[in-house]
Amino acid sequence: MATTMTNDELRADIEALVERLGPGRASLIPILADVKRRFHEIDSETMQTIADVLDIHPVEVHSVASFYAFLHSAPEGQFVIRLCGTLPCDFAGKQAVADALRTELGIGFDETTEDGLFTLEWTSCMGMCDQGPALLVNDEVHTRVTPEKAKAVVAACRAAAVAKEA
Ligand code: FES
Repeated sequence: MATTMTNDELRADIEALVERLGPGRASLIPILADVKRRFHEIDSETMQTIADVLDIHPVEVHSVASFYAFLHSAPEGQFVIRLCGTLPCDFAGKQAVADALRTELGIGFDETTEDGLFTLEWTSCMGMCDQGPALLVNDEVHTRVTPEKAKAVVAACRAAAVAKEA
């Protein structure tokens, strides 16, 4: 990994993430998103460690990481909001959530707000299809998102940013 972390530190870091996000493959995408956000890359050693800690095959980590194109592009905003655009989430009402996010943030998809706070992107299925529409905010997954819930998520991010600066 392109940091000064040793293997042990890397493993401890990922174990702490799993502790927070839960075990098993359901946490794979949030973990990859978190690692990408903090270190701007996910190298093979990191993927191997994630596979070990989650007790899944490294090939699965590799294929998910490469499937999610967003993991390879540097996010710009402090909060990267990704709405699942895959069919089940579409049926669950993704479009209304997308409209609410556009209105609330004043930007379109693949854009970043002028204050650098938010980037809005589409993503593919993140494994929460039975609880759609699904939204990923940095490494935090939100399910059964309604337009109102999306607005509340944005408000919470803004409040967190203000609190951080205070
Ligand atoms: S289709 Fe949206 S999470 Fe699977």
